[in-house]
Amino acid sequence: MTQEIRRARETDLKDIFAIETAVQKSPWLESVFADIQKDEDACFLVVAGDDSRPLAFLIAISGDDFLEILNFAVAPSSQGQGIGSRLFQHALQEASKSGIPSVRLEVRESNAPALAIYLANGLEIVGIRKGYYNDNGENALLMTGKISPF
Ligand SMILES: CC(C)(COP(=O)(O)OP(=O)(O)OC[C@H]1O[C@@H](n2cnc3c(N)ncnc32)[C@H](O)[C@@H]1OP(=O)(O)O)[C@@H](O)C(=O)NCCC(=O)NCCS
Repeated sequence: MTQEIRRARETDLKDIFAIETAVQKSPWLESVFADIQKDEDACFLVVAGDDSRPLAFLIAISGDDFLEILNFAVAPSSQGQGIGSRLFQHALQEASKSGIPSVRLEVRESNAPALAIYLANGLEIVGIRKGYYNDNGENALLMTGKISPF
């Protein structure tokens, strides 16, 4: 299967929102994705399959010295195949090319697959927000890492 990592297009939004509602406990509104897709400064990437439709997406914003991951998901039927790892690494590579030296994000304490990706890419847990997630009172882990030159 051929897979391409590219910027999200307007025509991807329906598929992206379907992934979001399938995997997130508290999905973002569809309009938020539409606004971010129009924002040329935002990092909004998809992994597209053979038919060019998104299997996964990642959304991040950047400042001078950091990349902040805001949303990141793989369609349930495509999970566990390394797609999430590749997409996350691609986002770090793009940030590295722009000279951004660090990455930061929040993750649910119980999210073992996401934690595996972040730890494998050198991120560390630097803080905890107790009871941060409204839907189940779960703690959020704050993670940061250096982005090495690729
Ligand atoms: C987190 C997510 C993006 C990972 O995507 P994925 O394509 O399934 O991940 P990969 O196949 O690249 O696997 C990533 C790692 O997680 C590990 N993993 C997978 N399922 C696991 C589990 N249940 N427990 C522990 N580790 C697990 C894999 O072994 C792999 O580690 P490895 O590279 O050391 O072998 C995906 O599970 C997802 O969309 N989850 C719902 C949304 C979400 O939680 N997003 C992150 C918000 S911070």
